[in-house]
Amino acid sequence: MVRQHVNPLSRFFQQPHPLPPLQELFPRPERPLHLDIGCARGRFLLAMAPLHPERLHLGLEIRRSLVALAEADRERLELDNLRLLFANANVSLPPWLATLPTGQLELVTIQFPDPWFKARHHKRRMVQPELLQALATALDGRGELLLQSDVPMVMEHMLEGVAASGAFEPADGGTGLVENPLPVRTERERHVLQQGLPVYRRLFRRGRTWQGLHNPSGPPVSAP
Ligand SMILES: C[S@@+](CC[C@H](N)C(=O)[O-])C[C@H]1O[C@@H](n2cnc3c(N)ncnc32)[C@H](O)[C@@H]1O
Repeated sequence: MVRQHVNPLSRFFQQPHPLPPLQELFPRPERPLHLDIGCARGRFLLAMAPLHPERLHLGLEIRRSLVALAEADRERLELDNLRLLFANANVSLPPWLATLPTGQLELVTIQFPDPWFKARHHKRRMVQPELLQALATALDGRGELLLQSDVPMVMEHMLEGVAASGAFEPADGGTGLVENPLPVRTERERHVLQQGLPVYRRLFRRGRTWQGLHNPSGPPVSAP
């Protein structure tokens, strides 16, 4: 399969593209929300949504062609607790998260983000400080952040960002998860496991002492 990477820093993908409010996306917009960032073809969420009807599931993906295919499947399956939207998460998500009611964001999954191996391309990686700060602000004490990768350098990069944010504490005992706590494997995860290769997983929740970006004394640093 040919992978078409897009450069999230290109002028086109940096244009503001506001995401609709939950009320425009779901008939029952008050339910707890699961956000999957970089959902690709959406097969993970298409399987998760019927297993967790008590939640809303929202997938964001920067490649429009994949979003169209995933949304067509969602309509065919008549899943009213799932939406898959085109977005550059780094641009569209922070302002949208700021509008969410406190406590609604229950789970964020960032699974096998594009590695962008070359050092000069690291700034194209999805997990950046601004995104982590916005997620931390939207997650209350109950919400969790699941990170997965098969590339140690990418997992290290995400963990450095999490530590630097000072906003999260481990919800996995600090050692990572051998098993995936979710009932569905992503496409990339299945591919990696089929090859007998390791998957690195970490689970975090918002740190209880973190007081946010605007705390004048600055956020306390808690290493994951
Ligand atoms: C390696 S794939 C993994 C897909 C899926 N999560 C899985 O585990 O099978 C990473 C996905 O993230 C998408 N992506 C990369 N940067 C993004 C961004 N800034 N906003 C939204 N999606 C992005 C890519 O287009 C790609 O589909």
